[in-house]
Formats: sequence, structure tokens, C-alpha cells
Amino acid sequence: MSTFRKAIAASLSFALAGTALASPALAQGRSDAVAPSLTLKAAKSQHRAVTFAAAPAQMAGTLVLPLTGEADLATRASALSDAERDAIARALKAAEFDYKGQGSLSLRGIGGWDRIHVVSTGTDMSPAAIQKLGVMAGRALMKDKGPLTVMAGGLPAEAVAELATGMGIGEYRSDLYQAKARDAAAMAGTVVVGDTAGAARALYEGRGKALVEAMAFARDLSNEPANVIYPESFVERTRAAFAGVPGVSIEALDVPAMERLGMGSILGSGRGSARPPRMLIVRYTGRGASSAGPVVLAGKGITFDSGGISIKNSGGMGDMKFDMSGAASVVGAVLALSKSRAPVDVVAIAALSENMPDGNAVRPADVLQAMNGKTIEIISTDAEGRLVLADAVAYADAKLNPAAIVDMATLTGSIVTALGDDYAGMFSRHDPLATQLLQAGEASGDDLWRMPLHASYADDTKSTIADIKNSGASGAGAGAGAHFIGAFVKPETPWAHIDIAGMAWGGASDVKAAGSTGYGVRLLEAFVRNFQPVPKIAAAD
Ligand code: BES
Ligand code: MN
Ligand code: ZN
Repeated sequence: MSTFRKAIAASLSFALAGTALASPALAQGRSDAVAPSLTLKAAKSQHRAVTFAAAPAQMAGTLVLPLTGEADLATRASALSDAERDAIARALKAAEFDYKGQGSLSLRGIGGWDRIHVVSTGTDMSPAAIQKLGVMAGRALMKDKGPLTVMAGGLPAEAVAELATGMGIGEYRSDLYQAKARDAAAMAGTVVVGDTAGAARALYEGRGKALVEAMAFARDLSNEPANVIYPESFVERTRAAFAGVPGVSIEALDVPAMERLGMGSILGSGRGSARPPRMLIVRYTGRGASSAGPVVLAGKGITFDSGGISIKNSGGMGDMKFDMSGAASVVGAVLALSKSRAPVDVVAIAALSENMPDGNAVRPADVLQAMNGKTIEIISTDAEGRLVLADAVAYADAKLNPAAIVDMATLTGSIVTALGDDYAGMFSRHDPLATQLLQAGEASGDDLWRMPLHASYADDTKSTIADIKNSGASGAGAGAGAHFIGAFVKPETPWAHIDIAGMAWGGASDVKAAGSTGYGVRLLEAFVRNFQPVPKIAAAD
């Protein structure tokens, strides 16, 4: 028997021995221990239906007019009357409209329009910048009752498609349980007018629309409270979202299946919850994908993080319903790729568990064993994200022959201290992989900053009783967490860890509704779409 097989066998008996101690609810996969949420019904996510045309359908409702400079008015708004154009020109002048920034000016009472929303394209015409303009316009015009007409003549098809994509993303709303108000405010459609209508439509239908839907999917999952989204319901939502999408296979490992695989780490993390954990595996293989093995995206899916026995303070604890945002984003990225028929081979693994205190919960000083045989001393039960990811990445490494593994997690408060809400922290032992992720960050607008994996983190996470401990002694908390996850990936497997604790949610702003940001969906979609295999060699220390 190979050492690896021996390790698996050992971890298997370890995990099986642990079952007798598992909570009765967990052992039976029971979820009726939980108050029913039968009466709770979330509003459906919605965005305006988008059509593309060479000429405006009607000269009423809301007009969106992107301008790069004063001269654009004559060409882009040539469908308007001279009087309308004059009124707009006078208003822009009087307001000292700034064509350099990404500002906007809303005008009422001109011609037959309810509103004319002039948008400055600014000087940055990159896809991410244009998409952001769309996001802001979509959000600013959400309450407009009439149809939207976007005059985009003269803009390249790529920019037009990004604008439409951004608008759909910006139209997302998080008031899931104000369903009545939302249904009453159903949005009319958007007509995008321009000389490149056909090409823009193809780009939007081929990619943008799937991104809009995937963003809404991921944000809905994150915004849902933990009495609605728990491991099993996360799986059900995912199955529903992928129904009928070609090239997709979905598997959800339940507790017995995880026990058979020796996944003692994720099982340990979920022992205090009445909602049993799940390891959800969504694979999409597109036509024309390379056969070098899939890119695996593993997401932290803690549907609620109370801290467990190492319980958190009550202030802000509710934010921990967002602790499954990494899982939502990895599944969302695969949803976008599959719905747009991208020629890629990709797997999303959502490591789903609820971290709760209970008589059966894992305690500090307990020892768990992950699927790759490594033993873990629990220092804090609040360092649970790395526990579920340990088994997720070990599974990917052992079973999927991955071309690369990228994990995404709301892992540490420490990364928020370091990078705030400007960048997610990215850690990798493989420079070529890190480079591709940074590029995807720039292309998508989901910004990343590379952080170090210092050799000292190995000392920080040394245990005196087990192979590793789940919380380090050092001040580099985000780095120690990254190091821990990396210990469950073979050194030669190209791997990166992305800590999104500062990026996953926030208050309402001109680019987003309150709650989830959907950070990571666009990043990982762009990364996988453009992925180039990197050498599978262990990095020199
Ligand atoms: N989910 C939290 C991290 C977090 C904190 C995300 C704040 C978003 C905002 C994670 O499970 C956690 O509790 N991390 C601990 C780790 C520590 C116990 C080693 C932390 O960051 O304090
Ligand atoms: Mn925690
Ligand atoms: Zn957590």
C-alpha cells in the first residue's frame, strides 16, 4: 500500500470511530430539529431584459447617454431633436459637467423623456471601468418606471456589452424579504441602441448575461439569512440554478460519504450544528476544453459562523451569515462559465458547514484528522474556515488531478486590518499562477493584492500533539491561515488562497445594494476563462 493510501485508510478509521460521538441530528442527517421557515418567501432576483437595436424604439421613458466629451452629443444623440440636444448641451455647460471623471447628471422635463441620464465615460475605457459605469447607471435608474434607452452609437461593441452587463449587475437588490414592494416595482426593459448592435448583442448574450445571473445567484445566497441557507439548502439552490445547463455534473457528499473519505476536518467543524455539513462538487466541462485537468475553485461555505465553543461577541455576529460568500462565489463563477458555454474544465467545491456551539461541538484542544491523513489540533473553534477548506483542497488534490486549485474564503479579520475593503489578499507558492490571478483581478475589477507566505508561518502553526494547529501564535493571522490551508495541498500542485473577508459584503453605495458584493464571481470567471496551465513543481523555499 502506498503511503498515501495508508494515510487515507488511517484517516478513515479515525473518522469512523468518531461517528458514535456525532450528534444524533447529524448522524441522521436530520434537519427537522430546526424551526420551519415555510412562511418565508424571498423575492425573485430581477434585472431589466436587454435588447439591442440600431435605432430607438420610442422616445420616451429614461434615456441613458454616455458621453466622452462635448462633441459626442451631436453624434451619439443624433436621434434626438435639435431642441432636446440644445437643452442637454445647456444643462451640461451650466453644471460644468466633468467629462474626465465617472460622473453623471440627471435631467428632467426635456422632450418626451421622463429623465435623461448623462454619464461621463471618463478617460479609462477599460472593460472593467465601462462595466462599472453601467453598474452605477443601472443602480441609479432602478426605480424608473418606464423603459430605458441607452444611446451607445460610436462605442465599440465590447464597451456596449460591458455597459449592458454592468447595468444588469447594478440592478441587483438585496431587499429579499420586502417582496411585495419589490414585485410592485417590476422593471421595464432596456433597449441598447448603436451601430454595433449585432456584435454587442452577441457579446452580451455570450457572456455578460450569464455574469449578471451568476452575480445575482451568488449575492442572493450570501444575503439569505442562515435560517434559510444552510448546507443542504445551499445544495438545493445550486441544483436549481444549474438545471438544464449542458456539460454540468453535480455531486453533494453527505455525512456518511464524507466519513468514508476520511474528511474528519469538515465533519468536526459541523458537529455542533443541527444542520449537517455537505461537500458540494459542481463540475462543468465545456466543449473544446483542454484535457490538462480541471481548474478547481474551492470556497469556504460556513453558512453561519457563531465561533462555536470559542464563541464570538454578539456585536456584529449576524454578519457571519455571509461566511459562505467564498462558496457562493466559486459556484457563481462556474454558473457564469457554464451558462456562457465557455470552453473550460472547471470544478467548484463548496465546503458547507455551520459553526455552532453545542454539547457535541468540537472543542479547543480536540484533535481532528483531515482526508489527507494530517492531524489538526484545535486551538480556536472560531478558526473553522480552514478546517472545511483543508478537506476540500485535499479532496481536489487526491481525486481530481487539478491543473490548479484556487480557494476563496472569508477567512480572517486580519486581512481586513491589512487591506480593508480595497483588495482581497492573495497567497500563492506558484508565481505563474499568482500572476494570472492578478491579471484577472485587473480585468474584472475585483482587486487583489498578493501577500507573503513566510516560512515562519510553519513554526507558528506547529502543534505539540498533532501535525498542525488551526491557529497560529504570530501576528500574521491571514498568513497563518493561508499556510494552514496550503498544508493540505501537495507542494507541487499550483495553489492559491484568496482571503475575501474585507470584500464580501458592505453597506449600500452607488455601485451596490446593502449586503453581499458578489466579490470573486467576476474575478474567477475571468481567471478560469483565460487560464494557462502552469508547471506542477514545488516552489523552492
Ligand atoms: N469568518 C471569520 C473571519 C471574518 C472576520 C470574516 C471578520 C469577515 C469579517 C473566521 O472564521 C474567523 O473567525 N477568523 C478568526 C481566526 C482566528 C480565530 C485565528 C479571526 O479572524 O479572528
Ligand atoms: Mn470563525
Ligand atoms: Zn468563519
